[in-house]
Amino acid sequence: MTETVLEWSDQFSTDIVSIDRQHQNLLQLLQNLQVVLPSDDKTLSDKQGIYMNLVDHALMHFEYEERIMRNIGYPGIDEHIQEHDELRTEIGNITKKVMDGKELEELIGLVCMVQVWLLRHISASDTKIRDHLHRDDNELVIDLYTGT
Ligand SMILES: [Fe+2]
Ligand SMILES: [Fe+2]
Repeated sequence: MTETVLEWSDQFSTDIVSIDRQHQNLLQLLQNLQVVLPSDDKTLSDKQGIYMNLVDHALMHFEYEERIMRNIGYPGIDEHIQEHDELRTEIGNITKKVMDGKELEELIGLVCMVQVWLLRHISASDTKIRDHLHRDDNELVIDLYTGT
């Protein structure tokens, strides 16, 4: 299997520290999963547990991000929540397959799909939140959300 390197880069930044940290954590969990899946050291049930940990973090992250978007009056929130809902549905479908105990090759393929969707969503949609923060009339929000 070719290992995909998931490097964090500033192009993924939303300029909201807590959201960026959660994104970095999700990428790290995906990377760990890619290492663990082909390994003989873990049982299928271990691998399913590690996958579910990633799913739990992703679902909690979607809720958190929606709360933040509401708090800052992000104008694209409805469309964004719709995208999260689509991801929730897709991840739910994949989770059923993973928990059905599919063959290793298929599991790896499914996890790659989750990875592609998440990265696409972060780079294409989550980063639009940054554009909203940097509007000329939004200095206060920038102060609030870019601090560490
Ligand atoms: Fe996100
Ligand atoms: Fe999002």
